[in-house]
Amino acid sequence: MLPRSVETADVEGKVVLVRSDLNVPLEDGRVADDTRIQASLPTLRLLLERGAREVRVCSHLGRPKTDEDRAKFAMAPVREAVKAAVGDERVEVLENTRFNPGETKNDLGFARELAAGCDLYVNDAFGSAHRAHSSTVGVAELLPAYAGLLLLDELKNLGRLLGDLERPFVIVSGGAKVEDKIGVLQNLGEKADAVLIGGKMAAEIATQSPLVGVTVLLPDDVVAADAFEPDAQTQTVDADRVPDGWFALDIGPKTRQVFAEAIATAKTVFWNGPMGVFEWPAFAAGTVAVAEAVAASDGFTVVGGGDSVRAVHEAGLADRISWISTGGGASLELLEGKELPGVNAIPA
Ligand code: 3PG
Repeated sequence: MLPRSVETADVEGKVVLVRSDLNVPLEDGRVADDTRIQASLPTLRLLLERGAREVRVCSHLGRPKTDEDRAKFAMAPVREAVKAAVGDERVEVLENTRFNPGETKNDLGFARELAAGCDLYVNDAFGSAHRAHSSTVGVAELLPAYAGLLLLDELKNLGRLLGDLERPFVIVSGGAKVEDKIGVLQNLGEKADAVLIGGKMAAEIATQSPLVGVTVLLPDDVVAADAFEPDAQTQTVDADRVPDGWFALDIGPKTRQVFAEAIATAKTVFWNGPMGVFEWPAFAAGTVAVAEAVAASDGFTVVGGGDSVRAVHEAGLADRISWISTGGGASLELLEGKELPGVNAIPA
């Protein structure tokens, strides 16, 4: 059951505490990618339109540990970007919640500090919903709690992958860290018609972590490089014939075609993780081929995970994907079948 929506709350004249996930990448003290900021705006605008007296937005930023991290992860650039985007004096952005050591321990004292002076709490931070922290769980126990629009959209769209879905269902998975994804591949993979695996994890799935009861397609061919360098010498070889000392850094042309054909037949697609080291142009073709195939699909398509989301944006294909998740770990945990504490803390 979905948590109750902010749309059902009476916010007129109220001070509303909003937990957004404004954990965005920074470069040279500026916001390098504002996707999460943009995604958090509909809830803030709704609250303003409905007459909230004050909207206090809080979020973590990075994983600050030392005193020097306080300068690195100060909220100022994010605050500026949010305030510029909403253009309304009633919105304030609080300092990084993780500057308080109580935050990650779900400390009641810090939750009380956040809740002080507020009438309502709205959690819109889907990307942080797998964390039981003061700002995601503690405050929900102190104030009347509601789910924000982004949180609800994420739950509805990702939830479609967990419920009855239209077949064929194809999962495309890549990237380096098999341990992050194995739970999802096992949970969703059992109902998938095919799981296509590329990236570094392909070799590991083949040898060390086979998926039980799942139809897995591994690369036939790969682009091998003689060094882990952007301008290394390359050759296309069979996946099981990578020369000693060489690295498989992308899926090869035969595999790209097989994967694209499988995606083209699908009515539901979930893609998480690049097919190779796509940040280097020489090894981007496999990831781009998958992005194009997913975008060309007329089925329900979901992309999650920072790198595949970035690849879709860089290829200019984002508006042809049904749902792009703002959650990394949170979307993986949800699709693994785990409960999210930030969601559970809000009444249905
Ligand atoms: C994320 O970027 O996945 C979320 O903001 C959560 O961040 P965390 O892993 O540091 O809790």
